[in-house]
Amino acid sequence: MTDFPAIAIAPELTVVVPSYNERDNVPELAARLDRVLAGIAWEMIVVDDDSPDGTSRVVKDLARRDPRIRCIRRVGRRGLAGACIEGMLASSAPVVAVMDADLQHDETILPAMLDHIRAGKDLVVASRNIEGGSKTEGLSPIRRAISDLGRRLSAMILKAPLSDPMSGFFMIKRDLVEQVAPKLATAGFKILADIAASVSSRPSFAEVPYVFRERVHGESKLDAKVALDYLGFILNKLSGGLIPLRFIFFALVGSTGLVVHMVSLYLALGAGLQFEWAQTLATFVAMTSNFLINNEITYRDGRLKGSRFLVGLVLFYGVCSLGAFANVGVASWLYAEAAEWWLAGIAGALMGAVFNYAASSAIVWRR
Ligand code: GDD
Ligand code: MN
Repeated sequence: MTDFPAIAIAPELTVVVPSYNERDNVPELAARLDRVLAGIAWEMIVVDDDSPDGTSRVVKDLARRDPRIRCIRRVGRRGLAGACIEGMLASSAPVVAVMDADLQHDETILPAMLDHIRAGKDLVVASRNIEGGSKTEGLSPIRRAISDLGRRLSAMILKAPLSDPMSGFFMIKRDLVEQVAPKLATAGFKILADIAASVSSRPSFAEVPYVFRERVHGESKLDAKVALDYLGFILNKLSGGLIPLRFIFFALVGSTGLVVHMVSLYLALGAGLQFEWAQTLATFVAMTSNFLINNEITYRDGRLKGSRFLVGLVLFYGVCSLGAFANVGVASWLYAEAAEWWLAGIAGALMGAVFNYAASSAIVWRR
């Protein structure tokens, strides 16, 4: 005999809760689940990416008093999608739900969601964008625009016409997750869209409206990085997975470099610099900004720090210079072969981008 309390019923539902710095929210969420899921055999798995605020300690304290609560503490890793996947795969219940730890998702609709699954649906999405949902209310204009763009782009790659594909609140049959899990990306906030794009056939699904609540404790982790990650994911899927995600990021970052270049050139000329000097300065500013963003996003899993950072920056300048030669070389050759000027231009730019990407991966951020 052990001292552990006997659990009479195996859970029907696992609620997976990804968390990062949510110490003040998780205990309240657990209390609310206990109330709203009365009569349902449930468990909660909090997947915490080693939050500096000690969320995992708080969850483990709860778990010692309530065997329905578990904590997966991941160290050395960050990523919402990956945390959700790991939580779902740690479940042995037939049904899994994913919801945020920060109380912004309305837990009172969980029983209605489960009813849909019990009635045979594969997937149930809690949606802000149908009648009865909060729509984009409460979102800042910029978040509203991003959310709208994300929804339109997602529509092109999904197997099911979801009204809120970026929702982090859904319920699904575990079988389905087990099938697609090896195909899913682990970075960013795209878990539901990724599942809905990766399933082999159209899932049967239902949507339940909810009002997205204000956050009381802690802060949002959704930033420009997350938005860029989402865009890269959609472009990757649109290319049938042919173009690597990393190259897409690299190219997106490259296009921000053009903007940085033009702004720097404008400012330098305004400050009275000669054109040659202004252009040189702008080139270095743009290369430096590309390097910084690539180090943060494109190669975040192999981020350069300390002395390797400076060496990397210098190598990156070198790679970009060679890339410029490749660019001009290919463009001039095509132009001489009587290609259209714009075709030669595009081919050159593409050649430069591919060269910079290949060389950066092999030399600057080599592992
Ligand atoms: N484990 C882990 N690792 N959890 C994370 C990470 C991470 O790297 N980043 C964020 N989380 C957790 C947060 O602690 C929270 O519980 C949940 O994921 C959502 O993060 P928020 O930072 O609160 O996101 P939001 O409220 O701004 O974003 C909302 O809109 C998104 C886009 O529509 C949420 O509804 C998201 O679920 C939704 O995807
Ligand atoms: Mn939130």
